[in-house]
Amino acid sequence: MRKNIVAGNWKMNCDLSETKVLLEGLTQSLPASLKADVIVSPPYTSLYYAFENLKDTPIMVASQNINENDKGAFTGEISAKMLKSVGVNYAIVGHSERREIYKETDALLKTKLDQALQNEICPIFCIGEKLEAREEGKHFEVVKHQLEKATFHLTAEDFKKLVIAYEPVWAIGTGKTASPEQAQEIHQYIRDLIANKYNQSVADEVSILYGGSVKPANAKEIFGQADVDGGLIGGASLKATDFLAIVDAF
Ligand code: G3P
Repeated sequence: MRKNIVAGNWKMNCDLSETKVLLEGLTQSLPASLKADVIVSPPYTSLYYAFENLKDTPIMVASQNINENDKGAFTGEISAKMLKSVGVNYAIVGHSERREIYKETDALLKTKLDQALQNEICPIFCIGEKLEAREEGKHFEVVKHQLEKATFHLTAEDFKKLVIAYEPVWAIGTGKTASPEQAQEIHQYIRDLIANKYNQSVADEVSILYGGSVKPANAKEIFGQADVDGGLIGGASLKATDFLAIVDAF
């Protein structure tokens, strides 16, 4: 179901003591009424602590990855069932850093999405172009390919369970945010792709988040765009006051 969502991707930051401090900062200043669903995505080592200390709050917990297998000889990996067992309801899938650094392919991401959905974990599926594709005007082609190859095998019912996060790679961690107009243009394109594949009703039910240098200063304008339903926040999610200011930006 389409809703406003602000998710914080902590990436490889916060040991357990730092997690405690950040979560205290969030829970002690959480507004009584929230304008969005709030999700935090700590590293694996803090997931259960986060779940246990957030379960009496509206804040939900996401993993930053998920393995594509049920279980077995995959040393170092974490399964959907394991994540579910520690209270995880969302999983970031296909972040550009996993595509780039860990060579995660569209085909692999398709199986990760299936695993998440089969275990009733909501995928936050990341797509987005690199700088050279943007400069060559190929950004529409890139996100279309990423969406088609990993998600368009899903039934309409399953597709509606996804959250899509458009994260232009050139805006991640760079301080160079897409303009609200750039964000709206590609979010609308993504929603049109979904409408063409399924139908407008499905397209209108999917939350499409923007990620890439969202800060308290720019969040309101970006979230105010018709087809932007919130944000996937990196750096600014590591400071409670900044993250909460972004949550309040709707
Ligand atoms: O997943 C969100 C992340 O990639 C965005 O990072 O630091 O640009 O907000 P940042």
